Amino acid sequence: MARFSPNTIFYGIILVVSIFNVIVPQSNATLNAHYYGETCSQAEKIISLTVYNASIYDPKVPARILRMFFHDCFIRGCDASVLVDSTAENQAEKDGPPNISLGSFYVIDQAKAKLELACPRTVSCADILAVAARDVVALSGGPYWNVLKGRKDGRVSKASETINLPAPTFNISQLIGSFAKRGLGIKDLVALSGGHTLGFSHCSSFEARLRNFSALHDVDPSMNIELAQNLRKKCPKPNKDPKAGDFLDSTSSAFDNNYYKRLIAGKGLFGSDQALFGDYRTKWLVESFATDQSLFFREFAASMVKLGNVGVIENGEVRLKCRVVN
Ligand code: HEM
Ligand SMILES: *[C@@H]1O[C@H](CO)[C@@H](O)[C@H](O)[C@H]1NC(C)=O
Ligand SMILES: *[C@@H]1O[C@H](CO)[C@@H](O)[C@H](O)[C@H]1NC(C)=O
Ligand SMILES: *[C@@H]1O[C@H](CO)[C@@H](O)[C@H](O)[C@H]1NC(C)=O
Ligand SMILES: *[C@@H]1O[C@H](CO)[C@@H](O)[C@H](O)[C@H]1NC(C)=O
Repeated sequence: MARFSPNTIFYGIILVVSIFNVIVPQSNATLNAHYYGETCSQAEKIISLTVYNASIYDPKVPARILRMFFHDCFIRGCDASVLVDSTAENQAEKDGPPNISLGSFYVIDQAKAKLELACPRTVSCADILAVAARDVVALSGGPYWNVLKGRKDGRVSKASETINLPAPTFNISQLIGSFAKRGLGIKDLVALSGGHTLGFSHCSSFEARLRNFSALHDVDPSMNIELAQNLRKKCPKPNKDPKAGDFLDSTSSAFDNNYYKRLIAGKGLFGSDQALFGDYRTKWLVESFATDQSLFFREFAASMVKLGNVGVIENGEVRLKCRVVN
């Protein structure tokens, strides 16, 4: 008969407990590419046209929608918690600490308003955001993929939970751990970080790398020195302009693999970007994506589908307005 030592049982319990605590289930059981086929066959067309139109008027829209989706899925799963507005009783996720780059919520509102006219009470806000995130990537020159749908909207959105987002100061172990908690692996971490091929960052997210970085180094030694000098000019100390910052990539409105080429040159904006090139577990992926854009596109699309499965809920609601819980 098998005998377990108290130690084995102890670690067994720890293992079981930590699996349940840590891993947000990738509950893709209900998601389906044709979920609205019978109930709202024009849903994706309505969302896409809205997103395309908004992006023509406002070039910030693609990056903002892509970040919004990432933020949504990392907090409580892809349940549209990021879209909820704060009320007198509740400070919502979008008003949590790292909210400075959130914006363009109006685009989701426009799509939802049209969908409520075309097929009332049918298309969830979480699905609208997942489709919109695919559309902004495609319209910026990136890959296209089939979005699985059938998410329901959650009823909880708390500013205090944004503490669970990865920070731009995270080292490689922290990044891997943060993604693993959502059932995402090392390849997903490197591929999805390629979302930083689009968009802009405020100085506050990277200025710790520019001055008095550590006891030994004034500037983060993993940063290219010309980039550091350039960024110091853009982010003077003291800084009078709260909007000051820089683009995440030199081709920041094109979805391409230039982000990875920059990492190889020491030109990642955040410590969390540059860390991907500083560890053997992720460096080879950075090099692969830098040399083969179509490989990056395929892996980004596959990882976005995985991201879209994180913590999906089945027993939520379909919000009537994405900013308010029914
Ligand atoms: C790996 C961990 C990640 C960290 C630490 C991180 C951190 C950040 C930070 C600090 C900003 C700038 C905020 C500001 O100062 O304005 C930012 C912007 C952005 N992030 Fe990430 N991010 C991560 C992953 C992702 C992922 C997975 C995606 C999407 C696939 C993404 C998409 C974006 C986009 C598009 C922007 C630009 C937003 C804009 O221009 O408005 N990020 N990220
Ligand atoms: C296109 O976008 C503009 C700016 O957001 C908006 O005023 C207009 O109503 C939109 N048109 C359509 C057809 O969505
Ligand atoms: C960010 O949060 C602050 C308060 O914490 C709030 O005043 C501001 O409107 C929020 N920004 C966005 C874009 O939601
Ligand atoms: C990463 O950061 C954590 C928390 O600050 C620290 O415990 C760990 O030693 C760091 N790991 C590496 C590889 O630097
Ligand atoms: C640099 O950082 C050290 C602590 O790491 C601090 O004592 C010192 O005041 C800082 N210098 C400046 C100029 O901010």
